[in-house]
Amino acid sequence: MRALAQIEGITTMLPTEDAAWVGAELARRFGLPYWQFALTATDANRWMIRMCRHVTGRPRIAVFNWCYHGSVDESFVTLDEQGLARAREGLVGPPLDPTETTRVAEFNDIDSVGRALEHGDVACLLMEPALTNIGIVLPDPGFIDAVRELCTSHGTLLIIDETHTLSAGPGGCTAAWGLQPDAVTLGKSIGGGVPIGTYGVSAELAERIVAQEDADYEDTGGVGGTLAGNALSLAAARATLGEVLTGRAFERMIALRERFVEGVESVLAEHGTPWTIISLGARCEYRFTAQPPRTGAESAAADDPELEEYLHLYLMNRGVLITPFHNMALMCPATTEEQVDRHTEVFGAAVGELAA
Ligand SMILES: Cc1ncc(COP(=O)(O)O)c(C=O)c1O
Repeated sequence: MRALAQIEGITTMLPTEDAAWVGAELARRFGLPYWQFALTATDANRWMIRMCRHVTGRPRIAVFNWCYHGSVDESFVTLDEQGLARAREGLVGPPLDPTETTRVAEFNDIDSVGRALEHGDVACLLMEPALTNIGIVLPDPGFIDAVRELCTSHGTLLIIDETHTLSAGPGGCTAAWGLQPDAVTLGKSIGGGVPIGTYGVSAELAERIVAQEDADYEDTGGVGGTLAGNALSLAAARATLGEVLTGRAFERMIALRERFVEGVESVLAEHGTPWTIISLGARCEYRFTAQPPRTGAESAAADDPELEEYLHLYLMNRGVLITPFHNMALMCPATTEEQVDRHTEVFGAAVGELAA
């Protein structure tokens, strides 16, 4: 509303003061100095990938098995049972077989990362610091540091996609775990519902990007868009980062997540149900395995769509709505203890009926 009143419009195709404020705030949170804006996290990933290919002169990217980074053509590859890369099942209209553009590694398997990068043709590795789109899969201690080292030794740029893992804290896993990416991408929640995406780069990568004098970064070179960085998106991001998703809000959200986990664990213990609950800051998710899955493949195998639907419906019919995919709950600044406890109560009833 403030943006509309002050500039009398949503877009001017020029940067606003809010863009400078948001860029500085993201730099403070993530430790990367330069930020640009898109309208979705998908586009932030697409543009970052293009820039990585341009500066490295390499054609391919690498991703992890069962990743999701938005509708990015290059990312729709999974590993089959023999460990061979295959176009993801159900993929709609790929321009070419994505195994031609992309190498795939398995999460928490550092040898597989080495095998993906050793050909010397991978411009960037695009990864979530914890998988969140095939259920939450946390990295083993030291895994991301080892990935960083391999990327450096193979000349591959490391892009950390924090779109979901921002739940770890105000600066996502990058700040919470002291990661050293060349670039970070994110979007969604930082606009509080108004479309936005963003990518930040290290000083070194920024230098390499601007040194490409042949590259058209401003007009029709393949990065950017007419409404990217518009005044409304940036006003929304400023309000969200400045007043809603603050450090204090994260403390509260994480404490609520702990309460949620305690509730779920007490239910599981009461009924002797061999499930587990995995946490990532303000986010958590129950899984139908006794041990947390360690890889994308293990996590995909742990899926039980029928049981998942049953739980969702059971909860929904009793006034509790969790994230519509997976069994994920994300505390927001408006979540209350009463809501968390209501979930524990209804979840307890559902598990009780299943156990009976
Ligand atoms: C990790 C990650 N990156 C990027 C995206 C794309 O976000 P959007 O759909 O807003 O483009 C998603 C969407 O779920 C995501 O989970």
